[in-house]
Amino acid sequence: MRILLTGAGGQLGRTLIDRLPTEWDIHPFTSGELNITHYPSVKHRFLNLRPDVVINAAAYTAVDKAESEPEHAIAVNAEGPALLAEAANQTGARLIHVSTDYVFDGNKSTPWVEGDTPSPINVYGLSKFAGEVRLINTLPDALIVRSSWVFSEYGQNFVRTMLDIGLQRRQLSVIEDQIGNPTYAGDLADFLIFLAQKPQVKGVLHFAGNETISWFGFAQAIFQAATAICPAYASMQLTPISSEQWPSPAKRPRNSVLCSLRLAELGFPSSDWRARLSEVVPQLLAANVLKKAN
Ligand SMILES: NC(=O)c1ccc[n+]([C@@H]2O[C@H](COP(=O)([O-])OP(=O)(O)OC[C@H]3O[C@@H](n4cnc5c(N)ncnc54)[C@H](OP(=O)(O)O)[C@@H]3O)[C@@H](O)[C@H]2O)c1
Repeated sequence: MRILLTGAGGQLGRTLIDRLPTEWDIHPFTSGELNITHYPSVKHRFLNLRPDVVINAAAYTAVDKAESEPEHAIAVNAEGPALLAEAANQTGARLIHVSTDYVFDGNKSTPWVEGDTPSPINVYGLSKFAGEVRLINTLPDALIVRSSWVFSEYGQNFVRTMLDIGLQRRQLSVIEDQIGNPTYAGDLADFLIFLAQKPQVKGVLHFAGNETISWFGFAQAIFQAATAICPAYASMQLTPISSEQWPSPAKRPRNSVLCSLRLAELGFPSSDWRARLSEVVPQLLAANVLKKAN
């Protein structure tokens, strides 16, 4: 199987590269190698490679910054996927695109399922939803996988941020009234690889962690895992606060919990994020120790 991977330098892109079967013909492109907003480059790569499956892990993911540069977010998250869909249409490639829990407004008392109507409350969510719509309009057979609260040993994510802060101070306030399901990027990557082999699967799918928690609870779990390796983290004092006490440029959904009505029938497990966290934290701590030593 020939795979074209966009956004190969990002968190998900890197975990995909680690996991894609070595016997497949893999063509990963970082943002510098393939800008998905530049149609001549996109078309050239598609015509040149004739991929069977394109996995779009490229995105503009700076949620707060998007509020002040909406054109950039929309170009990457809405126009980019539309251009990929256009090129896939012309070359017969299958397109698997990744989207987000932030397409929802958070105003629901139960988890969000695939059939729920998106209603984003920030520019990032709006740009990602626009990307979903444009992609499906151009390529109705495309597959969109929405995930949430993604973390890994790569890139900037909540786990890394918590561990970095823990090196600098002993007290931290963390939001308690936003809930979601953390997802290990490696599990999401495994799911995308599984889907690459299921051409009959189309439409929207949710893939996230198997347990709901608040940002505060997630931070507690991170420091618990860190304390098991580095006892100094035990003295970290966490204080739960409300969203109002932590104003940010972008509004965030209160309820970001994704649930899938389709995953069970595919026979694929959701991400066991606590187990994965206990593997990722030691890797990040070791990387920090090495960074300090150099
Ligand atoms: N992270 C989360 O918590 C989360 C939650 C839910 C859903 N998602 C979705 O999961 C997917 C992967 O996210 P991630 O966590 O891997 O994000 P990431 O680490 O920010 O990676 C995104 C990658 O896209 C690249 N990119 C940006 N603009 C591009 C362009 N015009 N052309 C080609 N590549 C471009 C970036 O390259 P540069 O760094 O060089 O700009 C970066 O390598 C995204 O669709 C995101 O919306 C993420």
